[in-house]
Amino acid sequence: MPRSLPDALSTVPHRTDVPFSRLTTLGVGGICRWLFEPVSEAQAQGFVRACAREGMAFRILGGGSNLVVLGDIQVPVLRLDLPRELRREGLELTAPASHGHIALALAAAKAGLSGLEFASGIPGSVGGAVRMNAGAYGREWVDVLARYRFLTPAGDLIEKAPEPGEFEYRRSWLTGGQMILSATVRLAEGDPLRIQAQVSENREKRGTSQPLSSRNAGCIFKNPPGRSAGRLIDEAGLKGLKVGDAEVSPEHGNFLVNRGKASGEDFLELMERVRAAVLERHGVSLEAEVEIWREGSASGRGLPGIPC
Ligand code: EPU
Repeated sequence: MPRSLPDALSTVPHRTDVPFSRLTTLGVGGICRWLFEPVSEAQAQGFVRACAREGMAFRILGGGSNLVVLGDIQVPVLRLDLPRELRREGLELTAPASHGHIALALAAAKAGLSGLEFASGIPGSVGGAVRMNAGAYGREWVDVLARYRFLTPAGDLIEKAPEPGEFEYRRSWLTGGQMILSATVRLAEGDPLRIQAQVSENREKRGTSQPLSSRNAGCIFKNPPGRSAGRLIDEAGLKGLKVGDAEVSPEHGNFLVNRGKASGEDFLELMERVRAAVLERHGVSLEAEVEIWREGSASGRGLPGIPC
């Protein structure tokens, strides 16, 4: 835990003591002691190199839409704040990692480029979407990803095309301090009206089946192979189950919502109860899709199925 900053870090824009309730869509967590927001790739690289030199751990935050935070986090947190510019070359679009994910999907649709319609309702940042290999309606990021740029934990900048095994269902190898800087998608020419219609349909479907008006973190658990976590939770009679203000959404079983003043700990306990009940009822062990942050754990494995 840094009491004072190494000189090399003090030149990167930062804020102190920012509540995680403002940094996460679920609205939970304690204080983010150090929030670094580099505005250029060079600043991000300087940050990572300085941390590597000092042997200082740090965490990477995207849009905070897939995250449950428990208590305060003292280690530096980095959230990119790169210029919101999209670059188009032919059928390829390149977006900085900090670009809004939905905004990218809508920009592609507006430009008459097809392929990202599935992404038009998934919140968060482009970096988070790549890192999680986000998906919906049978499509996922790796289907459109042409190249990505990232920093290694040592601060080396690499640009590469995805390779087999790097991206799986809601998972990628980009963990443990690999920081995505930008992503290039390869799309197809399409009829703008048809693309817009698909985008509207996806957004409407999502709006009717998911509790989007309440604070949520998307789907909490991954779908087990061939099954729907939401249906399993529903069939176990868990909709409406509450721990404090954390509730299993009555609309969609795989969404937990914050009804007001829920804490990260409330969500963790609710997740454990849901997992235990689904295991007992269906014999299926659910694995968390959301990431869980707590001080001192380096996003390794925590509780069974619930990485902390
Ligand atoms: N279902 C129920 N009860 C529920 C919820 C769902 O019976 O409470 C049933 C539905 O009626 C449907 C089936 O389960 O027959 C599947 O439900 P849904 O279509 O809502 O899809 P899902 O498998 O629950 C996945 C992704 C979502 C994505 C949707 C749409 C995962 C974990 N979830 O949900 O992604 O938006 O498909 O494609 O892969 C996310 O990743 O955060 C996420 C929300």
